[in-house]
Amino acid sequence: MMLIVLTLLVCVGEAKEFPSLDVLYSRVPADVQQRTVTALIQRVVGARASQFKATVDPTIAEKKIDAFHLYHSNGTVSVKGSTGVAVAMGIYYYLSNYCNCQITWGGQQLHIPKELPKLPKSGVTVSANDRFRFYQNVCTVSYSFVWYQWEDWEKQIDWMALHGINLPLAFNGQEAIFQRVYMKMGMTFKDMQQHFGGPAFQAWARMGNFRGWGGPTTQTWLDGQLDLQHKILDRMRALGMIPVLPGFAGHVPEAMTRLYPAADISRLPNWNGFDDTYCCTYLLDFADPLFKLIGVNFIKEMEYEFGVDHIYQIDSFNEMQPKSGSAQYLDEVGSRMFDVLQTADPDAIWLMQGWLFHFDSSFWHPEQIRAMLTSVPKGRIVVLDLYSEVAPIYTYTDSYYGQPFIWCMLHDFGGTSELYGVLDKINTGPFEGRNMTNSTMVGLGLTPEGINQNEVIYEFFLENVWRKQPRDVSKWISDYTTKRYGKYNKIVDLAWQYLKSSVYNDTTNNGDHRSRSIPTSRPQYNPPLKPYLWYDAEDLYQAWDLLIDSADQYKNNSLFQYDLVDISRNSLMMISLENYNKMIAAYQNNQTSNFGLYSQMLLSLLNDMETLLASDSHFLLGKWIAAAKQWANNFNEAILLEFNARNLVSLWGPKGEVLDYGRKQWSGLLKGYYIPRWRLFIEMLNYSLSNHTQFNDGLFSQFVYEKVELPFSNQLDIYPTEPIGDAYAIAKSLHKKYRDIIDLQFYKKYAMMCKMRKTNTSPAVKKYGKHFNRSKAHVKMTNSNLQFSFDRN
Ligand SMILES: *[C@@H]1O[C@H](CO)[C@@H](O)[C@H](O)[C@H]1NC(C)=O
Ligand SMILES: *[C@@H]1O[C@H](CO)[C@@H](O)[C@H](O)[C@H]1NC(C)=O
Ligand SMILES: *[C@@H]1O[C@H](CO)[C@@H](O)[C@H](O)[C@H]1NC(C)=O
Ligand SMILES: *[C@@H]1O[C@H](CO)[C@@H](O)[C@H](O)[C@H]1NC(C)=O
Ligand SMILES: *[C@@H]1O[C@H](CO)[C@@H](O)[C@H](O)[C@H]1NC(C)=O
Ligand SMILES: *[C@@H]1O[C@H](CO)[C@@H](O)[C@H](O)[C@H]1NC(C)=O
Ligand SMILES: *[C@@H]1O[C@H](CO)[C@@H](O)[C@H](O)[C@H]1NC(C)=O
Ligand SMILES: *[C@@H]1O[C@H](CO)[C@@H](O)[C@H](O)[C@H]1NC(C)=O
Ligand SMILES: *[C@@H]1O[C@H](CO)[C@@H](O)[C@H](O)[C@H]1NC(C)=O
Repeated sequence: MMLIVLTLLVCVGEAKEFPSLDVLYSRVPADVQQRTVTALIQRVVGARASQFKATVDPTIAEKKIDAFHLYHSNGTVSVKGSTGVAVAMGIYYYLSNYCNCQITWGGQQLHIPKELPKLPKSGVTVSANDRFRFYQNVCTVSYSFVWYQWEDWEKQIDWMALHGINLPLAFNGQEAIFQRVYMKMGMTFKDMQQHFGGPAFQAWARMGNFRGWGGPTTQTWLDGQLDLQHKILDRMRALGMIPVLPGFAGHVPEAMTRLYPAADISRLPNWNGFDDTYCCTYLLDFADPLFKLIGVNFIKEMEYEFGVDHIYQIDSFNEMQPKSGSAQYLDEVGSRMFDVLQTADPDAIWLMQGWLFHFDSSFWHPEQIRAMLTSVPKGRIVVLDLYSEVAPIYTYTDSYYGQPFIWCMLHDFGGTSELYGVLDKINTGPFEGRNMTNSTMVGLGLTPEGINQNEVIYEFFLENVWRKQPRDVSKWISDYTTKRYGKYNKIVDLAWQYLKSSVYNDTTNNGDHRSRSIPTSRPQYNPPLKPYLWYDAEDLYQAWDLLIDSADQYKNNSLFQYDLVDISRNSLMMISLENYNKMIAAYQNNQTSNFGLYSQMLLSLLNDMETLLASDSHFLLGKWIAAAKQWANNFNEAILLEFNARNLVSLWGPKGEVLDYGRKQWSGLLKGYYIPRWRLFIEMLNYSLSNHTQFNDGLFSQFVYEKVELPFSNQLDIYPTEPIGDAYAIAKSLHKKYRDIIDLQFYKKYAMMCKMRKTNTSPAVKKYGKHFNRSKAHVKMTNSNLQFSFDRN
C-alpha cells in the first residue's frame, strides 16, 4: 500500500517537473529586486512604509516556486521573499488578511490599523502552489491598456506584483521591432502602415485577423510604445517577473509579395467580414526559408533592444484554420515554428494560447492537438488553457499530451461591464487541474480580454495562488465586504450574499451570454433581442435594496460608491429588459398607448442610467477619449486616436464587423451612441405602427449605421472627464423611482424561458432562516440604530 502511494507521488511529481522551464526564473540580483520592491511598498503604504521591511532571498524558494516568510523584527513587519514579487505578495497577504485592506484596479481601501496587527510568534510562511502566475490576454493590451502612460503601467505592475503575477505578457512596442526587420528587407514605412493595426487595434493585426484597420499608424506612436516597453520591462524584471515577449507567427505585409515574388505566401480567410482593404492578411508559409529568416531576425532584434527572457508567445492560427488538418502537416508546423525560436534563442520556450482548440473545436480534434503539441520537445512549449472555468481543454487531451499548461480564467470578453462570474468553478477548478492524474499544470493565469469590471472575481481567483484548499464562499464574501469597504456591516454582507448566489453563480456553462444587454445592443424587432438570464433577477434587486439601505453609512467611501453605482447600473440594465419586451409586445398587438408608455419608459430609463454613470469616475467615456488624445503630438494624430478610442467601444470596424463587442456601460456612450440608437428605433416603430406598415429590420440597420453608429466614431464632441452629481443621491432616487414598479413575474417567466436552473434558496433564508422578510427587516433597521434584525415569523 505504502509503495503504491509513493509510486503515485513520484509519477505526479515527474510529470510536473520540466527542467527546461528552469530558465524562466529571475536572474536579477537580489539586492536590485529588494530595492525595487521596497519602493513599491513605499508607493502602496506611503507614510507607513518605515513599519515594513523587505528582504529578497532566493534560497527560500523550493524548486523555484515562490515563497515568503512574514515575521516581526525590531518593531516592523518583515517580509522575506524569494523574489521581489514574492515579497509584494507577502505584503498584500498581510494587508489583506491582517489589516483588512484591499487594492484593486478601481481603487483601494488602505486603512491600516494604527498599531500593526500581530503575526503569530513564529511568523507565517506561505509558498505559492505553482511556479507560474500568468496575466493578460493578447487583447487586454488593446481593450484596457492601450492608452496607458508609464504612471498607469507602474500602478498596474504594482497590482500584479501584490497579487503574485510573475509571468506577464509584455507586447508593447513590437511594431517598432518588426519595422527594423522589414526595413532591412527593403520595405517602406508606407508598406508597414498598411499592415500594422491602428493604436487601439494592434492586438488583432498582430494575430493576422486584419491589416491596417485603425491606421495609418504613426512613427510617433511606434516610438512612444517602444519607449514605454523599455520602462515596463525594466520594472517587471526588477521585481523578479519573467515578461513574455512576442515571436513571429508568419503574418507579413503585402509588400513581401512584391519584394520576394518567389516566397510561398498565401492569404488568410476573411475574419468577421472585413472587406478587401483590410482583410485576408498575408501569411508566409512556415516551410519557406524566409520564415526562418524573419523569425530569427525578429527575436535577435528584440534581444538587442530589450534583452532576453526566453519565453515567447506565438499564436499562428488564432481564429484562423490551418491549411491542412493532417497530423503530418501540423507536426511539421509545430516543429518548424519551434526550430525558429530555438535557432534564435537556444533556451526558448514557446507559449501558446489554447483558444484555437476551443474556438474551432470541429477542426482541432485530439489527434490534431496532439500532433501539433508533441512536435515540440517536452517542456519547451507551454499552453495557456485559456478558458478553464468554462471550457477546459486539458481534461480531454490527457493534460495536453504531457506538455505543461496553465489553468486560466478568461472571465471577460471585450472588456464589457455586466456583473458576472462563476465563483464555484474558480474555487475548485485550479485544484482539480493540479490534482488530476498525470497533471502537467504548472501555473495559474488570468486571461480577461478587458479589466476594470467585477473586481470581486479577480480578488477571489488570485488567492488561488497560495490557498491550499477551496474556500467557504459565503464566509469569504463576508470578509471581502469588510476588506473592500473598511468595516463590517451585516446588511452589506447580506447584499453581497445575494450577488454571490445570483450574478456570480452562473452554473449554465453558457460561454457567451454577457454581452447582449438591452441598453448596449443594436435595437432589433424581429427576432426580438434575447439576453441570457442565468439567475433570479429578484436576487439582484434584493442586493440593490440592501446596498441602498446601508449607503448612508458609507459616505465618502470610493469603493462603496463604485459598487453602489455598478449594482444600480446592473439593476437598471435588467429593468430595461422588461421595458423592451413590453414595448415590443405592445407593438405586436397594435396597442398604441402601451407602445407609447413602454417606449418612453425605456428612453427615460436609459437617460437615468446616463445620469447615474456620469456621477462616478469609473464609468466615463470622457476619460477614455482624453487618455487616447494624450498620445497625440498634433491635431491629425489627435483625430486618429480619438477615432480609435470611439470605434473600439462601438462600431468596431469600418462597418460594424464586430459591432459592439467592446461595449461599455459608460456615461457618454449612452448619451452619444446607445440612446440615439434606441430613439431612432422607437421612431421607426412608431411610424410603422401609426401608418400600418411593416417594420423593416434591414432598413433600420442601414439607417442606424448611417445616422448614429458611423458618425459616432468620427465625432469630436467633448465628454466630461470628471464625475457630475452626487452618486449616492442619484442612486437612491433611482432606486425609489424604479424598485416598486418592477414586475417580478416578468423576470420569473423570462428566466424560465432561458431555462434557468431551479432557483437557489435565498441567501437571507440560508443565513437567517426561512421566515426572513426584508420589508420587515428594513423597518426594524431604520428604527433601531441600524442594527440588523428581522421578524422570525
Ligand atoms: C531597530 O530599529 C531602530 C529604529 O527603528 C534602529 O535604529 C536600529 O538600528 C534597528 N536595529 C536593527 C538590529 O535593525
Ligand atoms: C486532491 O486529491 C486528493 C487525493 O485524491 C484528495 O484527497 C484531495 O481532497 C483532492 N483535493 C481537491 C482540492 O480536490
Ligand atoms: C499516467 O501516466 C502513466 C505513465 O505514463 C500512464 O501509464 C497512465 O495511464 C496515466 N494515467 C492516466 C489516467 O492518464
Ligand atoms: C450556485 O448554485 C448552485 C446550484 O443551485 C448551488 O449548488 C451552489 O451552492 C451555488 N453557489 C453559490 C456560490 O452560491
Ligand atoms: C473624503 O475622503 C477623502 C479621501 O479619503 C478625504 O480627503 C476627504 O476629506 C473626505 N471628505 C469628506 C467630506 O469627508
Ligand atoms: C395590427 O395591425 C395590423 C395592420 O393594421 C394587422 O395586420 C394586424 O393583424 C394587427 N395585429 C393584431 C395583433 O391585432
Ligand atoms: C408617435 O408619433 C406620434 C405622431 O407623430 C406622436 O404623437 C407620438 O408621440 C409618437 N409616439 C412615440 C412613442 O414616439
Ligand atoms: C405616417 O406617415 C406619414 C407620411 O409618410 C408621416 O408624415 C408620419 O410622420 C407618419 N407617422 C409617424 C407616427 O411616424
Ligand atoms: C413581509 O412583510 C411585509 C410587511 O410586514 C408584508 O406585507 C409581506 O406580506 C411579508 N412577506 C412575506 C413573504 O411574508
